[in-house]
Amino acid sequence: MSGAATLAERYGPRALILGGSEGIGAEFADLLAGSGLDLTLVARSAAALNETAGKIRRVHGVDVEIIELDLAAPDIPSRASDIIAARDYGLVIYNAGATHGVSLFLDQPVERALNLVALNCASPVAFAHAALGKMREKGRGGLILISSMSGLVGSGYVAAYAASKAFEIVLAEGLHWELQRDGVDILCAVASLTDTPAMQRSGMVAVEGLTPMDARTFASGALGALGTTPVWYAVGDTAVEGLRAMPRPAATANASAISAQLWGIEADRGG
Ligand SMILES: NC(=O)c1ccc[n+]([C@@H]2O[C@H](COP(=O)([O-])OP(=O)(O)OC[C@H]3O[C@@H](n4cnc5c(N)ncnc54)[C@H](OP(=O)(O)O)[C@@H]3O)[C@@H](O)[C@H]2O)c1
Repeated sequence: MSGAATLAERYGPRALILGGSEGIGAEFADLLAGSGLDLTLVARSAAALNETAGKIRRVHGVDVEIIELDLAAPDIPSRASDIIAARDYGLVIYNAGATHGVSLFLDQPVERALNLVALNCASPVAFAHAALGKMREKGRGGLILISSMSGLVGSGYVAAYAASKAFEIVLAEGLHWELQRDGVDILCAVASLTDTPAMQRSGMVAVEGLTPMDARTFASGALGALGTTPVWYAVGDTAVEGLRAMPRPAATANASAISAQLWGIEADRGG
């Protein structure tokens, strides 16, 4: 689609933001509402949803619907198809999916890893399948998946999280290829450390040389990249190329050390 068109012209009349109550999701919501799109915001906490929706209605005067839902629930395929069928979405953003706290894979109950697989793999697939079918029929629309630099290489302490974020990048690449001639834009927006309420609550510690990105800067960059590339890295392509140039085991050791540092745990493996 033409880069000159507004977000509302390209992706109106309504956007669905999965994980839209705070942080990056709330910034997407504010930016899209500012462009005139109506919104549906999904998250688990009704209080946070109501607060964000109320603020956006007051500031931008658009319609904002909220849905309380656990996106890792087992009935997500049917919920996704009901939610998508109920409205005319020109844009779907799958933002939910951070890890909260880290430790070795075997030191956590298997349910924790399976929950991340449900949240970051099964649920994006369900929403993408339901939404993209309608968009392809209309010949317009967009889908953004939010991934992480953790998805670029395996990492100890966040093994299942990193693998689930790799899934989102690779899924977006394939969907972009399949839908590029149908007028439907697919993007995986890859975040590095970003200042969000979830990140602040989760006990991450400051690490020298790692300055969190502002959530609005990330959301704005991702919207600017939609329709221009299958994968957009908030840190820039040069940093990603540097990571890719490292021998894979060294990159994993490096990522594991950073994970340990960020969560204030003593690295006791490897090398
Ligand atoms: N923050 C970072 O440093 C960072 C770095 C790299 C990548 N990312 C990626 O950026 C995205 C956003 O991260 P975040 O830090 O804002 O934390 P998050 O825990 O993913 O929360 C973001 C939003 O998703 C909702 N959410 C989380 N789990 C949910 C669930 N099971 N069902 C429904 N809604 C859910 C949250 O509301 P509720 O909790 O009320 O449900 C909130 O509105 C994630 O995909 C993450 O992987 C973040």
